[in-house]
Amino acid sequence: MRRQFVAGNWKMHGNLAGNAALLGDVVAGVGTAPCEVAVCVPFPYLGQCRQLLEVSNIALGAQDCSVHSSGAHTGEVSVAMLQDFGCRYVIVGHSERRADHHESDSLVAAKAERALEVGMTPIVCVGESLAERESGETATVVLRQLQAVTHLLGGQTAGIVVAYEPVWAIGTGRTATAAQAQEVHALLRAHLRKVSEAAGEVRILYGGSVKPDNAAELFAQPDIDGGLIGGASLKATDFLAIAGAAHDKRP
Ligand code: PGA
Repeated sequence: MRRQFVAGNWKMHGNLAGNAALLGDVVAGVGTAPCEVAVCVPFPYLGQCRQLLEVSNIALGAQDCSVHSSGAHTGEVSVAMLQDFGCRYVIVGHSERRADHHESDSLVAAKAERALEVGMTPIVCVGESLAERESGETATVVLRQLQAVTHLLGGQTAGIVVAYEPVWAIGTGRTATAAQAQEVHALLRAHLRKVSEAAGEVRILYGGSVKPDNAAELFAQPDIDGGLIGGASLKATDFLAIAGAAHDKRP
C-alpha cells in the first residue's frame, strides 16, 4: 500500500517569528491527517524548524543539496549537514533550480544518489514547460528527466519519491486537471515499473497550484500519491486542509 504524502515547499519564504507561528498552527492541527506530512524549509531555518517539529510526527526536509559530499564548495550544503539537522527528505531538481541554476538531468540524478547514500529520501521533481506541453513533448521531457535518475540509481530507485510538477502550473494558479496529471503520473509509474516491482510502488506526488479546493480530486487519481505544495503550504489552514484530502493507495 502506498501511504499518501503531503510535503510543503516553503521556497524562499519565512522568518523566525513567522515560522514559529506557522508551524505552531500546523503541529496543533495535523493530528488527524490521513497521510505522511513534511515541510521543506530554507537552510537557515532547519535548526529552528527541527525544534518546532520535535513533538510532532511531521518530517523535516530541505529544498536542495550539494552534489558533493564535502570539500571546497563555497555556499554549498551537503547531505550529511542536512542529516545532522534531522532532515528525512530533500527536494532535488525543482524546476526553479533547473531554470535558475541550470541544473541538468544528470546533476539532479547525482544529487538524488547523494541523498540515498546517507539514508535520506530525495523528492525528485520532473515537469514540462508550457512550450513543451504545447508542442506535444510532455512525455518525452518528463521521461527523459526521470530516466536520468533511474539509470543512475537502478534498483535503488525504490527509495525515492517523485514529484510531477508541470512548470506552467507552479505558482500560477493554473492547476493541471486531475485527468492531465493522472495521465503523466501513469506514464511515470509505467517507467518505474520497468525498473523493478518495488520502484513501481514509489510515491508520485503532484505539484503545481494545489489548493484546498482541488486537492481531493487530484489525490483521488489512481497514480497520484499526494502533493508537493508551494504557496498553500505557507498558510496553516490551507496546508492542513490539503493534507486532510489525502488517503492511502492500494497497489
Ligand atoms: P505552488 O508550488 O504550489 O506554489 O504552485 C509548487 C512547487 O513549486 O513545489
